[in-house]
Amino acid sequence: MPPQTRARQRLLIKGGKVVNDDLSVVADVYVEEGVVQQVGPGLNPEPSPGLVVLDATNKLVIPGGIDTHTHMEFPFMGSRSKDDFYTGTKAAIAGGTTMIIDFAIPQKGCSLTEAFDTWKSWADPKVCCDYSLHVAVTWWSNKVKQEMESLVQNKGVNSFKMFMAYKDIYMVNDEELYEAFSCCKELGAVAQVHAENGELIAQGAKKMLAMGITGPEGHELCRPEEVEAEATQRAITIANAVNCPLYVVHVMSKSSAKVISDARREGKVVYGEPIAASLGTDGTNYWNKDWAHAAAYVMGPPLRPDPSTPGFLMNLLANGDLSVTGTDNCTFDICQKALGKDDFTKIPNGVNGVEDRMSVIWEKGVHSGKMDENRFVAVTSTNAAKIFNLYPKKGRIAVGSDADIVIWDPKATRTISAKTHHQANNFNIFEGMVCHGVPVVTVSRGKVVYEGGVFNVTAGEGKYVSRPPFPPYVYKRVRQREQVCQPVPVKRAPYTGTVSGTPVTQK
Ligand code: URP
Ligand code: ZN
Ligand code: ZN
Repeated sequence: MPPQTRARQRLLIKGGKVVNDDLSVVADVYVEEGVVQQVGPGLNPEPSPGLVVLDATNKLVIPGGIDTHTHMEFPFMGSRSKDDFYTGTKAAIAGGTTMIIDFAIPQKGCSLTEAFDTWKSWADPKVCCDYSLHVAVTWWSNKVKQEMESLVQNKGVNSFKMFMAYKDIYMVNDEELYEAFSCCKELGAVAQVHAENGELIAQGAKKMLAMGITGPEGHELCRPEEVEAEATQRAITIANAVNCPLYVVHVMSKSSAKVISDARREGKVVYGEPIAASLGTDGTNYWNKDWAHAAAYVMGPPLRPDPSTPGFLMNLLANGDLSVTGTDNCTFDICQKALGKDDFTKIPNGVNGVEDRMSVIWEKGVHSGKMDENRFVAVTSTNAAKIFNLYPKKGRIAVGSDADIVIWDPKATRTISAKTHHQANNFNIFEGMVCHGVPVVTVSRGKVVYEGGVFNVTAGEGKYVSRPPFPPYVYKRVRQREQVCQPVPVKRAPYTGTVSGTPVTQK
């Protein structure tokens, strides 16, 4: 392909089945200036120099994936995650993902704005596809409140993550959650929670170590699934008390998913995000006899030893109880994981997923018959775009949308392996999984960035994407509830009888 700048590239994708969340239709797609200009049958743009034509016959043409949850080059637990914003976004592209949303995470007592600026300075020169940033609230004060407001108004942030775990590091208490949720609601942001009871984890970890359980299985044993479910329920209760929309990140257990599902059925504005790991593998790996293998799966909340968990979460994702998928991509290689070789609490938490999410969900969700191609698009891009107010620029193939497009071969297969993946770590938690559903071409803002295994990427070519507050998909309901669900006093005549009491004097 001749060297071209993204802006000038013209692209015609011919003969594929264009799949959106609500409709599939055989049509051509014509792109100019990084934006979809036409969608329809038999498009015939002027064949001037620079027109790239891609044949998508018998293939699907889908919106590029949006990974709602990554941690590239994250300084964490005495190490730094291996995938940086270059290798991480390049791997994303190879897997059919064209946008990631990472997290800027300040230390307790530190500035949210500085964290945002720091993460952005790491990402801007390296990203190969578009990205955005959630910001974490790890402590509470008036300054934090002011910074949240300024991030929403000046920096395009519309989501804040609160940790209910990582005691003494990132964890906030219920009062702080209440304040942070109230602030999110005022600003039109989406509150996100890492839902695990950090106090119980701290106690459980001490107990396991005292029992001589120092290996990776201790990581799950000290925080069984009710620890996740309790925090999920608590977060939903607090969010509901202030009518704040809630987004539960990395849903890892059946119990937590059931709590979310029940809350949605009660009409609460809550969204659950399972991840590639929780949909594609399970926590039996923590009992593997090979320490390095077991440690590679350590993440928080942990994968669950009940092997029916991934299938259960996929069922809920297919039927709408769970809404959207991320990966929590936070890769550490075996040497980094070995920081915890004698104590599971020191194993850096995190797994891969950014490259494999789309294929894993196609295999376990669509190929298995649980969801159709439209639901696949909904849970891999459209719903994320709606919740985080990127829609319809992202998450849809339509006139005026960004040309983040993937030509997807639903029949082709690939075998996932650390030997062939593009991620920076030397282990893949999906090793050996054969997946139907392969991205053959990835287009980012109108430029072909990946085709048949060959990259055409430039570090820094991706853009930071601002996300305005009050996403209508989320806030229309919140506003309506605000109006109709306010408690009102009972009108009654004043009490006119005798009032008596007995003063108590203490000796
Ligand atoms: O294990 C995990 N999840 N690592 C990244 C930090 C987080 O909690 O999301
Ligand atoms: Zn988390
Ligand atoms: Zn995370």
